[in-house]
Amino acid sequence: MKLKRTLLLVLCTLSALAAVADEGMWLPSLIQPRIKEMRQRGFRLTAEDIYAVNKASMKDAVVSFGGFCTGELVSDRGLLFTNHHCGYGAIQALSSVEHDYLTYGYWARSEAEELPAEGLYVRILVRMEEVTDRIAAGETAGEIIAEAEAEGKGYRASVEQMYYGNQQFLFVYRQYDDVRLVGTPPSSIGRFGGDTDNWIWPRHTGDFSVFRVYAAPDNEPAAYSPENVPYRPRRHFTVSTRGVEEGDFALTYGFPGSTQQYVLSDAVDYVQHRSDPAKIAIRTARLALMAEAQAEDPALRIFYAARYANVANAWKKWQGEVLGLERLGTAERKRAYEEAFDLWAADRAGYRGTVGEMKREYARIIPHYFDLELLSETLRTLPMPYAAAELRDPLFEARRPTERALWRLAVGEYARRCEPGSMLPAVRAGIDAAGSADSYADRLFDLASDTTARADELAALKGELAGRIRALCDSLGLVRVRTLGSARLDSLYKIYMRGLQEWDRERAFFPDANSTLRVSYGIVSGYEYADGEYHLPLTTLDGIIAKDDPNVYDYDIPQRLRDLYAAKDYGRWAVDGPDGRPTVPVCFLATCQTTGGNSGSPVLNGRGELVGINFDRTWRSTMSDLEFDPSICRNIAVDIRYVLFVIDRVGGAGYLLDEMTLR
Ligand code: ARG
Ligand code: GLU
Repeated sequence: MKLKRTLLLVLCTLSALAAVADEGMWLPSLIQPRIKEMRQRGFRLTAEDIYAVNKASMKDAVVSFGGFCTGELVSDRGLLFTNHHCGYGAIQALSSVEHDYLTYGYWARSEAEELPAEGLYVRILVRMEEVTDRIAAGETAGEIIAEAEAEGKGYRASVEQMYYGNQQFLFVYRQYDDVRLVGTPPSSIGRFGGDTDNWIWPRHTGDFSVFRVYAAPDNEPAAYSPENVPYRPRRHFTVSTRGVEEGDFALTYGFPGSTQQYVLSDAVDYVQHRSDPAKIAIRTARLALMAEAQAEDPALRIFYAARYANVANAWKKWQGEVLGLERLGTAERKRAYEEAFDLWAADRAGYRGTVGEMKREYARIIPHYFDLELLSETLRTLPMPYAAAELRDPLFEARRPTERALWRLAVGEYARRCEPGSMLPAVRAGIDAAGSADSYADRLFDLASDTTARADELAALKGELAGRIRALCDSLGLVRVRTLGSARLDSLYKIYMRGLQEWDRERAFFPDANSTLRVSYGIVSGYEYADGEYHLPLTTLDGIIAKDDPNVYDYDIPQRLRDLYAAKDYGRWAVDGPDGRPTVPVCFLATCQTTGGNSGSPVLNGRGELVGINFDRTWRSTMSDLEFDPSICRNIAVDIRYVLFVIDRVGGAGYLLDEMTLR
């Protein structure tokens, strides 16, 4: 009976997987087996156009932007597009009260006006190759990396694990350290919709910024120097001005950060029922405290803006993830899948009992990992103590009530939610002595915000906190903990993963995202958002105007955009709107599998021309980090025609278009 039920569920699971056409983040050097399906969907090029070592290919025009985002080269003079939210840190660092580029935007009128962004770098992939055999033969990753880095100037290499270490790949990059800001729209375009619209469709954000890569006169990577010249890439993207329509092929090429496609149901259960709900609840309260302060005082609105955006980003993503996992029944499906695998493994010595061992290891580590997550969401958010400069800032007086409330919240949530018996001794003793968590938090806050106090108590707490984190990492056997896992679990996953590939022959396995270069493909497509409610995949300037409201910070557009709209002065960027009147395209949806790190990725049409810049997913589809559902998972891109329109008509920087290859 049990067996029958399991087999039935497996059949359902497998057929569901077979339908997953657009799932996947493929290694570009191994894209050949996907090409047939890609061509059926509208791709016109070859595997060598995507990735080649001995001739220029698309990979030469894709860059890792600062190690946290993606960017793409759009001219033979190193001109680069990425997202506004990826360039944000650099734009902020280059801004001052007199030159507030975040608020008003910036456009360099010549290369001499391009602003060096200190500390920012881009990496371009030279090549990737499998080194599993070399490592099996006794070479160390360190030796392989050192050899590769000696090949040329600015070479950086790393050895990355695919399929939990069943395969190892060497990635060799050239790193360029002279990157300059060329231009950015004002935040009222680049961040239009703010956190209100973040992860939301329909979307109208002009989330792009423009940089330029510089190199030594011989085109080799070099540190910043006035002698440097625009980098001449092997390849840059042609920009398509013809636009996209529903059903068109779309390819996203970039550096996705991290996914967990093959984890057991235990990990899904943990995310869905334990980790996400706790983190969401704590952040909901944190955000409310900041929002309250922001509503009361305009100076505090500005002060807490960046912090709020940071906290709100993952908060919203996790809420969509929980809903998505529930809707899909991911934990149930995975449970059936791993049970069926276990049955198959029962008479195979190499795999027998692996699933059971993994489950036991999960049971062991989950309390430790939850402790780590709880500490990061609570005590670790508190400054111990505040920096002296922060305390001297006149604004600190106004912040006091909010900061005090944040301490109470963090200490209270930690005490309430931590595993029985695991509470830090300093916190336990502090609460006992003070009489309540609130009084103890007040006491800590007073110590942290008073430069004359002897903060021994604070230092002791800080020491215990650091010690606990080290101990928790040790118990997981990991130096740096990125997601629920342990050294032991990693080695079990290596076996499990190999077993899955032997057992589930129909499935096209792709290696989990790990910040290495990947290709995802699909089509431009809307989706059924709710019963009877279909979301179309394209938005226009008319939607921006409908949202426009000078009294709402997130929706207050530049006057220039209002004027262009009033005059319908769109120049060559006009298209026919849904109502037949001229408008400008703004954003679109596609079915490519993406995740954090794909921000700024080029979205390309079937001819490999740039049609958009990826910047988000819809929140209901963020469970794709654990399980992708082609019926609902969508990535969001800013239409390249809107980018060009903003540069040309709003920014008055149309001269930048002259160096691009437009088609
Ligand atoms: N959700 C996007 C991402 O995960 C954009 C975040 C930045 N925008 C914002 N409004 N917070 O990075
Ligand atoms: N905004 C995300 C980033 O910065 C991309 C959104 C996502 O797919 O997670 O990479």
